Amino acid sequence: MEKIIVLGGKGGVGKSSISAATAVLLSDLLPKKKILLISFDMAHNLSDLFKIEIGNKVTALTNNLWGIEPDADSYARKYTKDLIEKMKTLMKQMPLVGKIPQIEKFIDTTFTADSIPLALKNAMFFQKILDAEDVNTQEIQFNIIIADFPPTANMITLFEIPEDQVKVVLKYSLNFYNSIKGAIRNVSKVWRNIIKPFDNYEERRELGKEIFNMIVELEKRGERISDLIHDIGSLRLVTIAEKPSFEEIKRARDLTAKYITLEGVHINMIIPEPKKCDFCKSLRNFQLKYIADIEKEFKKLKIWQSEKLKEEPIGIEGLINLAYEVYGDNISAGEILSPKVH
Ligand SMILES: Nc1ncnc2c1ncn2[C@@H]1O[C@H](COP(=O)(O)OP(=O)(O)OP(=O)(O)O)[C@@H](O)[C@H]1O
Ligand SMILES: [Mg+2]
Repeated sequence: MEKIIVLGGKGGVGKSSISAATAVLLSDLLPKKKILLISFDMAHNLSDLFKIEIGNKVTALTNNLWGIEPDADSYARKYTKDLIEKMKTLMKQMPLVGKIPQIEKFIDTTFTADSIPLALKNAMFFQKILDAEDVNTQEIQFNIIIADFPPTANMITLFEIPEDQVKVVLKYSLNFYNSIKGAIRNVSKVWRNIIKPFDNYEERRELGKEIFNMIVELEKRGERISDLIHDIGSLRLVTIAEKPSFEEIKRARDLTAKYITLEGVHINMIIPEPKKCDFCKSLRNFQLKYIADIEKEFKKLKIWQSEKLKEEPIGIEGLINLAYEVYGDNISAGEILSPKVH
């Protein structure tokens, strides 16, 4: 993999549209590269943008561009199945806990993929893609990944979790364990005396080792992904020329600084120079003030400005139109992949 482009910013500013437009333009400029566009927003809309049903499978959009709207849940179910099964078996074999009559059912119904926090599921899926494991059995080695991220708070967890995911998994396991402690407390003293505390020791030791190894694997993968995002990740923040979304990208810049390099800012939906309409003129003047503020704040970075188009940028043609509006007609792939400030 050569580059991971991540688009972030406030809701509704054009993150998905600019991600898709960038993907379509790069696929046109770089026909030999394999490009994947992923939506990490819960409310996926790549299908609407491309007017093709995409969903939870790698779907061809052009000759060398694919898209996916992952169902993080189904992936987490697959990925954690083994870990969950082993933990369950271990718990069932534990002295006391395993002997409580209701506990088996309780463990089976409580300790499931559904109970894993969504942020962790999304992060696991993100890692799977970046780790170039098979995506729904289809093996494609992508050169460039473009990720349409959710608004800032959820975006941060996607960066944060790989660094700390073993802690997250352990905390989640501990929470689960705490929730069954109540049941253990209710076991009468009589029960405790009947149960031999250390049966199945060898078997438990083996299982314990397997779980430990899986956790070590998870830790290593987290480190690998964090390093990858550090090395080839490129964040671009999208904003409109208004205060709330400008404030949001300043926060996003500060909160993501330790995980990924910020390489550019998109100022989108600028009102075109109006000929008559007084209202449009004052709206534009108002935007120009914010554009100047944004340029000042991010002066060391590439800033792309794009006007509000008359037609909704959807379908491949609409997205290409938006791409030229965003990057200009003479843009090269190199300038998109590694923007420089002149
Ligand atoms: N430059 C533009 N000109 C005209 N319409 C635009 C432009 N950029 C985006 N849009 C339109 O604005 C709307 C919001 O854009 P988009 O869905 O890309 O934003 P988003 O930041 O991904 O939103 P969300 O946070 O809800 O995911 C869409 O209808 C899109 O077609
Ligand atoms: Mg979006």
